[in-house]
Amino acid sequence: MAETLYIIGAGGHGKVCADTAKATGHYNHIAFLDSQRDIGDAIGEWEVVGRPESFADFADTHSVFFVAIGDNRARRQWLQRLTGEQVGIATLVHPTSIIAEHVHIGAGTLVVAGSIINGFTQIGQGCIINTATSIDHDCSIGDYVHIAPGCHLAGTVTVGEEAFVGIGSAVIPNISIGSHSIIGAGSAVTSNIDGNVVAVGSPARPIRPHHRE
Ligand SMILES: CC(C)(COP(=O)(O)OP(=O)(O)OC[C@H]1O[C@@H](n2cnc3c(N)ncnc32)[C@H](O)[C@@H]1OP(=O)(O)O)[C@@H](O)C(=O)NCCC(=O)NCCS
Repeated sequence: MAETLYIIGAGGHGKVCADTAKATGHYNHIAFLDSQRDIGDAIGEWEVVGRPESFADFADTHSVFFVAIGDNRARRQWLQRLTGEQVGIATLVHPTSIIAEHVHIGAGTLVVAGSIINGFTQIGQGCIINTATSIDHDCSIGDYVHIAPGCHLAGTVTVGEEAFVGIGSAVIPNISIGSHSIIGAGSAVTSNIDGNVVAVGSPARPIRPHHRE
């Protein structure tokens, strides 16, 4: 335990990230960089010490960074910027989550309390595996994906990069959800979903395109 963790983004998601980081016991100091709050603001026991834009001023051999931005595209942009500057990137996995053998979790990903990830699943970088979500065996979750709280993905599900799966959704085995797509809250995904669409309901059906490029 020798590192300082700087969390970029002091909103609600940032609070979850700070709490997760504290629970890991890996950091002796945790602080926020945020553009909305005043420097010196306290958020619980954690202080806003600077602006995200000035991250380089805080980078040293004992510091690592975590991007706590819920929007997939914005999170991607910040992570790529940090990586380009070769600063250390944290990966935060809450100790109450259960991670099976042969699971790979990419840099900059958050796994929130109570989540379960089963064997031979690959989780990309910069993902959010939110509260009490389960992802079963042999899944492939692309970079910058957000799986919202209380989702259940069966085995061998593929989720493309920057996709979002809304709170409380269920995905049956062998399904593919395309990149940049949004699955509405409480959906049951029982057939493949193309990329760049919003799909909702049970069974989930596309209701409109969703283009981010
Ligand atoms: C899917 C979603 C993104 C759509 O948002 P939107 O584009 O603003 O869509 P609208 O609210 O205009 O709804 C469009 C239609 O889809 C329906 N719809 C929206 N979300 C739905 C859902 N989750 N399940 C079923 N139908 C849904 C609406 O009832 C509406 O139907 P209508 O045209 O017959 O009236 C949003 O409703 C949603 O489910 N977001 C998930 C949020 C979440 O999980 N957050 C977790 C954060 S950790």
